[in-house]
Amino acid sequence: MDELTAFFDARTRAYDRQLWLERPALRTAARLAAPAPGERVVDIAAGTGGMAVALARRQRGLGSLVLVDAAPRMLARARRRLRGVYQSPQWLVADARAIPLPDASADLVSISYLLHLLDPHDASTVVNEAIRLMGPTGRLVVVVHGCPPGRIGAAYRRVWSARRRVSRDAVVGRGPMAGITQLLEHHGLSVVARRWVPGAYMSEVVVAQAISGERRRGTMEGRLQ
Ligand SMILES: C[S@@+](CC[C@H](N)C(=O)[O-])C[C@H]1O[C@@H](n2cnc3c(N)ncnc32)[C@H](O)[C@@H]1O
Repeated sequence: MDELTAFFDARTRAYDRQLWLERPALRTAARLAAPAPGERVVDIAAGTGGMAVALARRQRGLGSLVLVDAAPRMLARARRRLRGVYQSPQWLVADARAIPLPDASADLVSISYLLHLLDPHDASTVVNEAIRLMGPTGRLVVVVHGCPPGRIGAAYRRVWSARRRVSRDAVVGRGPMAGITQLLEHHGLSVVARRWVPGAYMSEVVVAQAISGERRRGTMEGRLQ
């Protein structure tokens, strides 16, 4: 377990208590991702299950639902949360950078509130894993703590910089991410929907799919702002 995962594993309860702050963005993500009956869904960095629940509530007839996270206690909490929402979810304690699932084993892959916490190389590796799981016809829905363009974004970034200076919390210290759509496009995906969801964090929700016949893999170092 790396430092980031250990951070969450040790704070499962505290994380779970603030999940309501993320719900508006998770619901927006589920609505935009529009899961269809029978679809196979993989939720990467599933945490305590907020995204998985939003997707399973949105589409009661999912074909399968796999929750992947490297923190076993986060997944244990997700298991409780999914009771009565989805009958037979599958659980995978695994690193999002190397997920032990076959290529093209998902129609819809979700990654919520992870990529902004990773360095650009790891974020790129996780996106590559999502693309591998999606195959040529799947969709990817991503939620990040984002930073809008323009004056509002600049002010928001200043607030987070100030917070970073006083915080001893390594995760809070990471702050918002700019450039998620560029990251996905760099990996050969086409962004088909994008929304800002204001709240305790400014959240960016993006849905992307493969540009048919074209699949670029790459790294994103130096391209994230
Ligand atoms: C901020 S939480 C997000 C949880 C959930 N997606 C949500 O929206 O509520 C980040 C999650 O990513 C997981 N995580 C961090 N690094 C990971 C990695 N390399 N592989 C798998 N999971 C990881 C943590 O354990 C934690 O559960």
